[in-house]
Amino acid sequence: MLTGKNILLGISGGIAAYKTPQLVRLLKKSGADVQVLATESAVRFVSELSLSTVSGRPVLTDIFSADGNGHDNARTMHITLGEWADALVIAPATANTLAKLAAGMCDDMLSLCFLTLRPGKPVLVAPAMDGHMYDSPSVQRNLAMLKAQGCRMMEPESGSLASGQCGLGRMPEPETIFEALTEMLASPEASALCGKTVIVTAGPTREKIDDVRFLSNYSSGKMGFAIAAEAARRGATVRLVTGPVSLPTPPGVERLDVESAVEMLDAAQPFFDACDLFIGAAAVADYRPETPAEGKIKKNDAEMEIRLVRNPDILATFATGRKPGQLAVGFALETAGGLDYARKKLVDKQLDLVAFNIYDGRTTGFEVDTNALTLLARDGNVTELPLLSKEEAAGKLLDAIEPLLRR
Ligand code: C5P
Repeated sequence: MLTGKNILLGISGGIAAYKTPQLVRLLKKSGADVQVLATESAVRFVSELSLSTVSGRPVLTDIFSADGNGHDNARTMHITLGEWADALVIAPATANTLAKLAAGMCDDMLSLCFLTLRPGKPVLVAPAMDGHMYDSPSVQRNLAMLKAQGCRMMEPESGSLASGQCGLGRMPEPETIFEALTEMLASPEASALCGKTVIVTAGPTREKIDDVRFLSNYSSGKMGFAIAAEAARRGATVRLVTGPVSLPTPPGVERLDVESAVEMLDAAQPFFDACDLFIGAAAVADYRPETPAEGKIKKNDAEMEIRLVRNPDILATFATGRKPGQLAVGFALETAGGLDYARKKLVDKQLDLVAFNIYDGRTTGFEVDTNALTLLARDGNVTELPLLSKEEAAGKLLDAIEPLLRR
């Protein structure tokens, strides 16, 4: 299944490292070439000799090791490996290694190759640590940063931990990691998105009241960024037109930053003609102040009224003016009500698919990391997805779009 694939396997220093020779064996058996990058602490948990024997290559640890772990071109090896690799798997990923990767530090071969890996190449991370460490704000922040960069995070499993306690934190079994990797590597060639051009809008818009104030909403941009990242991973050329958010640009994605709805339309419109798929994930403000004031509006004792005018509907502008074969997909976020709203949106905006979700303020909608989407297709097909991470939800949404792109 992985014949001809070059895999970098990063191993950091957790007890689960003892399982990694089995992962190397699975990868080798399926035809992959495996280069192990182990941290100093990893080789305390698992023998370098076992790993080099099963992988058939010397284990790389230290960037300054005099003999380059047996390689002549040690000084540039990290660059070569970044080009060579089709994917990087980090299992187990300790809190320390996650922190280094999130910060862009590079003081060993594993963290160095994470930086030299070519954009768009899949990175699969299997964190494993004590459950309390996993839940700590610092680890969660680093996981979120890496996820936003496009790394695929595997959920640690529950069970008995090295501490003797029972809980969340175990590295998934080598078979599970192997399956996740084969799935990640299989999708690009099979994907209908490969070679397609996609526009994704994301985030909120800001509508100026005066030079220091604006109207906006709580959108974080996470859903749109996850869609853009996944579409790029599946081989699409992706333009991400985003309102103000604090998220890193996903690898391989062209990002256009805007503030207002009018600017969002202006930035996206030149690309309408050449795009195969438009996904409107932005929470575009429906109204804007008619005439933003210059400077700062001074307060006085009287009430104040701001006259609002309608903003352009970016998705509807695309959908109604599009050429045959171009697909338009929208989101419908509601605080109440059922699928009827979403159905109406599908018809009114002439969309091919609508992703409907109820905003509950805790697990779905703005800012949070999860979402529960119901997908409504133009042909009447309804797919109810469970509560998923926004990355997983993005994958499911694109899975539903792919057959429409093939028609
Ligand atoms: O009409 P409503 O705002 O509920 O529709 C939501 C969908 O339309 C989303 O996909 C959103 O990105 C898109 N939209 C847009 N421009 C607007 C309003 C909504 O592209 N002005």
